[in-house]
Amino acid sequence: MKSDPLHELRGVLASSKVWLREWIGEGSDVLPRHLPTAPRPSDDELVPDRTTRSIVTAAETLTLEAVRDDLGDCQRCGLCAGRTQIVFGDGNPDAKILFVGEGPGEQEDLRGLPFVGRAGELLTQMIEKGMGLSRSEVYICNIVKCRPPGNRTPLPDEVAACRPFLDAQIQAVKPRVIVTLGRPAASLLLGEEVAITRARGTWREYRGIPLMPTLHPAYVLRKYTAENRRNVWTDLQAALTRAR
Ligand code: URA
Repeated sequence: MKSDPLHELRGVLASSKVWLREWIGEGSDVLPRHLPTAPRPSDDELVPDRTTRSIVTAAETLTLEAVRDDLGDCQRCGLCAGRTQIVFGDGNPDAKILFVGEGPGEQEDLRGLPFVGRAGELLTQMIEKGMGLSRSEVYICNIVKCRPPGNRTPLPDEVAACRPFLDAQIQAVKPRVIVTLGRPAASLLLGEEVAITRARGTWREYRGIPLMPTLHPAYVLRKYTAENRRNVWTDLQAALTRAR
């Protein structure tokens, strides 16, 4: 007998709804406690993303304040033990361009703001001198909101615990363009391991939003070559043009 694709699709949707109801009912450590916020959308509007276990809703209006409230005095992973404070994000809640880095360093941890150390100074220059914007016009955040000890790369469970908040920040800001800084941010948002020197400068997409991977400013500081600086400049110009 020939299978009916519509019938099969209905079956998949029905079982997804059951899974989603059960999962929401059970609660999850990974999902921010109050997300999605009221009014609760109909089941048809909920789109479960199995790779991140976060929930994006089509019609939801989410604010950065609500996301920050949900984060609260976060103890969801071990990074809370070593932090001075949470580094949530900085900038314009209606930014057209949103930057994503890896995680706070020492200065960021002390000041509670992303990208305010040496790499941050370079990023600020890139935004202000390279793109002709003020830092307060864009939005800047990180994969993890607490400083990893000794600035090590965040561990998978730390990334998983923080991921829903990054997704929610992006959902709240609704940028026209995302710029990822370095390999970890690009790999996370694209859902695949990327080689950043190859991936940079090529347009990709995160949930329908154009995404430009570029080099991390800390890498550019370490390898301060004309080529690296030119590449980042080119990537940022492309992001600027696309965002306008
Ligand atoms: N590096 C990052 O990835 N993020 C910061 O906030 C600072 C340095």
